[in-house]
Amino acid sequence: MTHENKFGLFIHWGFYALTGIQEQAFARMNMPREEYESLMYRFNPVQYDPEKWVLLAKEAGMEYICFTTKHHDGFCMWDTKYSDYKITRTPYGKDTLKMLADACAKHGMKLSLYYSCPDWHHAFGYNPASTHQWKAHTENGVNTAAYLEYVRNQVRELCTNYGPLYTFFWDIPPRIKEPSLNEMIRELQPGIFINDRGYDTGDFSTPEREYRAVDGERFTRMTEACNSLGEQSWGYREHEDFYSIRFLISAIDRIMAMGGSYLLNVGPNAEGEITEDYARRIRRIGDWYNRMEGALTCHEADDFQYKIRGNNAIVTKKNGKSYFHFPDGTRSSSIALQYFPGIPKSVRLLNTGKELSASIDLLPEYQSNGQALPHLHITGIPIDDLSDEAIVIEIDW
Ligand code: GLC
Repeated sequence: MTHENKFGLFIHWGFYALTGIQEQAFARMNMPREEYESLMYRFNPVQYDPEKWVLLAKEAGMEYICFTTKHHDGFCMWDTKYSDYKITRTPYGKDTLKMLADACAKHGMKLSLYYSCPDWHHAFGYNPASTHQWKAHTENGVNTAAYLEYVRNQVRELCTNYGPLYTFFWDIPPRIKEPSLNEMIRELQPGIFINDRGYDTGDFSTPEREYRAVDGERFTRMTEACNSLGEQSWGYREHEDFYSIRFLISAIDRIMAMGGSYLLNVGPNAEGEITEDYARRIRRIGDWYNRMEGALTCHEADDFQYKIRGNNAIVTKKNGKSYFHFPDGTRSSSIALQYFPGIPKSVRLLNTGKELSASIDLLPEYQSNGQALPHLHITGIPIDDLSDEAIVIEIDW
């Protein structure tokens, strides 16, 4: 299944954006329930234009959008029949998910849905077996059956009323086994991929945040890593501590070269906009991603036992060509291979699209018993102009 590797946009959006703090501000800032939940009556994102979001994702080369339909606060971003704690009861009044689904359909963007297992609003949202229960109602006791019925009804709506779905992203493993939920999703959405944070094993793993994969190892299970543009929040944060472009590009290149997908997250604000602080980072990363000409998707491992001097590389193959990924860049303006399968027909630096020169050279620093050894020497990488980018070199043997 590793062929399913794609680049996507994760969107954490709810009325928590009004706090400007975090998607879990209710718990993390210990806000009184009344104060937090009444924010829904102030939620009126009149600038919401999902087509803009879809076009931003498209511009960045992304193939899917994963949207938070219900986060831990329990608030529903669609017109569910099963709760009044929902977007259509806010001053805004419209089904935000429907609008996004329509915009995705119009632009050929795949849609994935995020759904939180913890629920801090539902009378029986409390699950003592799981984590992230801080604000759940405990005064009603535990009634797992009643809550699961609610989840089932809601997930049925989500899988019925919003067109074809690409993946289903449960969040926070409930540590309750209920395989019939995933079975229902698969029946309603044939071909869907389901993650590993739900009521059954699912199809793919979901490492998140600063997860650092081991270079060179390919994922053996379908994997989708995710991180947010900023360190402190997945939802909109007024004063976010943004990661460096270098850090994010390096993670995306590493995960995708290993066969995984990558979901990069933004938090739109309470007006419904992806503000320039977030948008320009998506565009910058997308600019790099687009110059990779699709080399990060649908590839396979290159099994040749290369010996690459001094740099960590992940080598993949696609359409008969090899791709040398250097997620942290190369340490100098050249790379040298001691073991290689032949003389290249062409060598190209995807970052610039330009040919690099390649020759067999005797390199004095790489020697055996004082004798310089011949290497395939690829030179002329403009590293100082690419200091915040992962470097990818294409070789046609
Ligand atoms: C973590 C966060 C949660 C977020 C999720 C995304 O579990 O606690 O808020 O939605 O990551 O993967």
